[in-house]
Amino acid sequence: VAERTVALTGIKPTGRPHIGNWLGMIRPAIALADEPGVEALYFIADYHGLTTVRDRATLRALTLDCAATWLAFGLDPEKTVLYRQSDVPEVFELAWILACHTPKGFMNKSHAYKAARDANEAGGEDPDAGISMGLFSYPVLMAADILAVDADVVPVGKDQVQHVEIARDIAERVNHTWGEGTLRLPAVRVKSESAVVPGVDGRKMSKSYDNALPCFGSPAELRKAVMRIATDSTPPDAPKDPDSSLVFRIHRALLDEAVGASLAARYRAGISWGAAKKLLADDLETQLEGARARYASWIARPEAIDLLLAEGARRARRIAGPVLGRVRAALGVSSSA
Ligand code: ADP
Ligand code: TRP
Repeated sequence: VAERTVALTGIKPTGRPHIGNWLGMIRPAIALADEPGVEALYFIADYHGLTTVRDRATLRALTLDCAATWLAFGLDPEKTVLYRQSDVPEVFELAWILACHTPKGFMNKSHAYKAARDANEAGGEDPDAGISMGLFSYPVLMAADILAVDADVVPVGKDQVQHVEIARDIAERVNHTWGEGTLRLPAVRVKSESAVVPGVDGRKMSKSYDNALPCFGSPAELRKAVMRIATDSTPPDAPKDPDSSLVFRIHRALLDEAVGASLAARYRAGISWGAAKKLLADDLETQLEGARARYASWIARPEAIDLLLAEGARRARRIAGPVLGRVRAALGVSSSA
C-alpha cells in the first residue's frame, strides 16, 4: 500500500531564480510532486531571505518572482501547497524549540556561515563582521521548515544536503530527549545529474555570484549570459573534452542522458565554442518557451499570486498546527497543546 509521502522544499527570494535553481531543484521537485501518493509543500523562504535583503519592495518583488517561477514551471496549485514561509507562524515557534536542542558546534560547521567567516578572515576583518544571528542559525530555521510539516523527503540541490542532515540530527536529539515520534525524520533527495549546475565563471551558479543564467530574463539577456560562459582557447575545429567544458556541463544538466551523450560526441568530433554556445542557447530557449509565457501571465497578476499564497498558507498551517500541538504536548508546554 502506497503510504502518503510528504515532500517539502523552499527557495529564498534573494535574487531572480536561475537555471541552476530550475534544473537542480525546481524541475525534480515538480516531478516528485506528480508522483502518486506524494503530498508536496513548496514555499518561498522569505524569512531566510531576510538574512540579506534589506528593502521592502525588493523582498516583495523577489517573493512574487519566485512564486511565478514555481507556477511557470508547472507547479499545480490545486495539488501542491505553495506558500510563503512568513505566513506560517508555527515554523518560528518550532525554530526556537529546535535552537534549544542544537549544539552551537553544528552551526559553526554550517557552510554558509563558514564561508562568510572565511571571507572575513581572508580579508583581514573581524571574523564575525557582518554576520547576523540569522545567518549563523540559518540551518535551525530550515530544520523548522522541514520538521513542522512532518516532511519525509526534501528535494534540493547538492549545496543544501548538509542542511537537511542537520535537520535530521536536531530531530533525533529532540526525539531522544522528549520521546521517539516527537518529530518525523526527513530524508534528502538530490538529482545527481544536476546536483550542481555551474555558473558562467565555473563556480556553482548562484543568485549571489553574478554568474547565473536567468530563467525568465529576455531571450536577448539569456543569449548574452550564455556568451559569457568561460571557455579556453582551443581552435574552433579542434576536438573538445566535454567533461572539462563549462558550456557542456551546463548543457548536459538540461538534457536527458541519451541526448547528452550525442552532444558529447559532437564535442569530441570538434565544435567551435560559438557553435556550442548557440546550441545551448537554442535548447534553453526551446525548453523555456512554454514556461516563459506562463511566467509572464502570472507575474502580471500579483493579486492572483497573493490569493494563491494565502490559500497555500492555510493548507500548510492545517498540517503544521497539529505537528506543533504534538511537540508542545511532548514538552508539556503551552495550554494550547
Ligand atoms: P542560490 O544559491 O542561487 O541563492 P538557493 O540557495 O535559493 O539558490 O537555492 C534554491 C534551491 O536551488 C536549492 O535547493 C539549491 O540546492 C538549488 N540550487 C541552487 N543553485 C544550484 C546550482 N547551481 N545547481 C543545482 N542546484 C542549485
Ligand atoms: N536554504 C535553502 C536554500 O538556500 C532554502 C530553504 C529554506 C529550504 N528552507 C528550506 C530548502 C527547507 C529545503 C527545505 O536554497
